[in-house]
Amino acid sequence: MKKTIPDFIRMKQDGEKISMLTAYDYPSAQWVEEAGVDTILVGDSVGMVVLGYDSTVPVTMEEMLHHTKAVRRGAAETFVVVDMPFMSYATLELAIMNAGRLIKEGGADAVKLEGGINVASIVQDLTRAGIPVVGHIGLTPQTANQLGGFKVQGRDLNSAKQLVKDGQALEKAGAFLLVLEAIPRQVAAQISNGLTIPTIGIGAGIDCDGQVLVFHDILGLFDRFKPKFVKQYASLGQDAVKAIQKFHEEVKTSQFPAEEHTFSLSDGVIQKLYGNK
Ligand code: KIV
Repeated sequence: MKKTIPDFIRMKQDGEKISMLTAYDYPSAQWVEEAGVDTILVGDSVGMVVLGYDSTVPVTMEEMLHHTKAVRRGAAETFVVVDMPFMSYATLELAIMNAGRLIKEGGADAVKLEGGINVASIVQDLTRAGIPVVGHIGLTPQTANQLGGFKVQGRDLNSAKQLVKDGQALEKAGAFLLVLEAIPRQVAAQISNGLTIPTIGIGAGIDCDGQVLVFHDILGLFDRFKPKFVKQYASLGQDAVKAIQKFHEEVKTSQFPAEEHTFSLSDGVIQKLYGNK
């Protein structure tokens, strides 16, 4: 049964961990739902692992909508969170309009946006407008350049304290879930223990209330780089290349198609066909 926001809050209260995995299209959404994962994130990581961009920055609203609709069709019974792409929430007006499109046209259950205190007023307005919001602090890929690159955040006292304040501001603004990316586990624990909303870690240690990873990373479908926090559970990319090589060889050596992949005429029709020649 599809989880709801009160379910996620209850899971935190009961100490039941929350699983979240990204999905970007119909088959991946179907597999994630079939595996029983609690919630799907249509991440703007789609830009890197599916569309081949160098970062998440170029991802557009139209691309997010396109992928969200496919995920919704594949996972009707799973709570779907969708990333708002870079610059789509630069002003309150843009945020309301674009978040509304992801919910109404895309079929999303909630939207996620990156930032702490600086986006709290946007989170508040979206929540007031009836749009459920997930926060995302720590390493925020859309603004990684401002953070000095793809680096662990919150390593010194001041930045750790700032992350705690950011988490509190987002909860106060109405966020119902908070993604913590690439921060020391002790900082993540402090944030998680101080909030009533659940935290979902990615490279933030075991004390978060749940964990999220990228579909292509856990299945070995993306090998441009592999962050320390990724655990790879399968090597489907390598399996795919082997299978495709086999197809290629079998075409070249006329081993494919075999009889079982071939349609044939009945003997009577064959005789008439050749007889009429
Ligand atoms: O875009 C994404 O996949 C994300 C996760 C890394 C949390 O934001």
